Amino acid sequence: MSKNKELLWQSRFSLPFDRDALLFSSSVHVDRKLYREDIRGSIAHVTMLAEENIVSREEALQIITGLGEIEVELSEGTLVPQWEDEDIHTVIENRLKEKIGPVAGKLHSGRSRNDQVATDTRLYMRSQISDLEEALGGIMKVLLDKAETYRETIIFGYTHLQRAQPISAGHYYLAYFNMFNRDRQRLRDLKKRVNVSPLGAAAFAGSTLPLNPARTAELLGFESLFPNSIDAVSDRDIIIEFISACATVMMHLSRFAEDVILWSSYEFGYLEISDAFATGSSLMPQKKNADIAELVRGKTGRVYGNLMTILTIMKGLPLSYNRDMQEDKPPLFDSAETTVQSVNIFARMLENTALKEDRLARLTAEDLSLATEIAEYLVRKQIPFRDAHRITGKIVTWSISNGVTLPKIPLGQFREFSDVIDNDIYDCLKPEASVNSKKSHGSCSFASVAVQLEEAGKVL
Ligand code: ARG
Repeated sequence: MSKNKELLWQSRFSLPFDRDALLFSSSVHVDRKLYREDIRGSIAHVTMLAEENIVSREEALQIITGLGEIEVELSEGTLVPQWEDEDIHTVIENRLKEKIGPVAGKLHSGRSRNDQVATDTRLYMRSQISDLEEALGGIMKVLLDKAETYRETIIFGYTHLQRAQPISAGHYYLAYFNMFNRDRQRLRDLKKRVNVSPLGAAAFAGSTLPLNPARTAELLGFESLFPNSIDAVSDRDIIIEFISACATVMMHLSRFAEDVILWSSYEFGYLEISDAFATGSSLMPQKKNADIAELVRGKTGRVYGNLMTILTIMKGLPLSYNRDMQEDKPPLFDSAETTVQSVNIFARMLENTALKEDRLARLTAEDLSLATEIAEYLVRKQIPFRDAHRITGKIVTWSISNGVTLPKIPLGQFREFSDVIDNDIYDCLKPEASVNSKKSHGSCSFASVAVQLEEAGKVL
């Protein structure tokens, strides 16, 4: 059995840490992802230590040079983090000691792994938030293009997954545009709370050394500084907030995925996904499946699970730092990566879809979804809406039982239901007339969609 490497805290103990216990507690396989953030934080810390004369300029230079080399070794794979080192912070510190000797130990002056890992996590989140913001900007751009392309294409709008009223397809795409825009606003707002430096809180109570936390905050590009050292090391609510924002993005994507899956099915037949973004079956040669949309829908479950994981980890933890909090990283990393990847691939798939305009034109022209037009026509002829609704209901029943679509019902027949109906009824029984008769704010008419498109363009 190989001997343990020295752990940062070993000196107080008379027995070496049990290997199984160490294997169980090691987080290197997860937190190795933070090596760049860790080195960046360390360089800022030691720069401040030198400025405050806590270490000498020469020592700081040695440490910074060593850390720079370690970053290269880690990125090139010549330094492979070993689980025996407990966590990535220890991997880097042990390697620094190998390179420059005992002076490496000065890097930890006035710093604990508690404020160190909180700093690394915030730096990681800051960059992931930017990546997700960019990904959302990307899908919003695709949606804007789709809305522009199909602004005068008429599709069915649904409620309860029943055909409800005809709408401009542009209106539909802009609905998703607005959802992703709010997701992006949520992230921008969250960034203010993430961009706060916890470095200088030390283990949780602060330090006897004359640290300058404002300086490290500045060096790391944080907007502000922790107000309370206990909170700085023990709070993870920004992770909860971030995963919650990711879960909301995934929820939006998952609803969209559901539309894509349904609309590309034979039964709906509204949407064609390019072969480059569809999959087949190993058994049934005719199959064309929307696997990308299905996977996004499936991964949504993972991100929801991550939110429950982090909420549950934090529930009931006494102040301040507890080792439980090491378990924050798998859900954080997984949520960030899954969400960015899902948004990016969904946007590319969406780019590679086309509405089947001929079929949609045929279906919408004959559909019962024009019934609301009849009711509103009657209202314009001074019939109270409740009566108009009842009369139209009877017309719909007649249409179904006689197999005659609404626009094909003869005027004489219409007049059996209400004598206020005239020839002009046929003008409103066209999907385009229906769509464009909508006059209210933010509605589905071509004119309203044009206004919305202009506003959306400004947002981007
Ligand atoms: N690996 C630990 C984590 O990610 C680092 C902090 C360890 N602190 C401690 N007091 N044991 O949370």
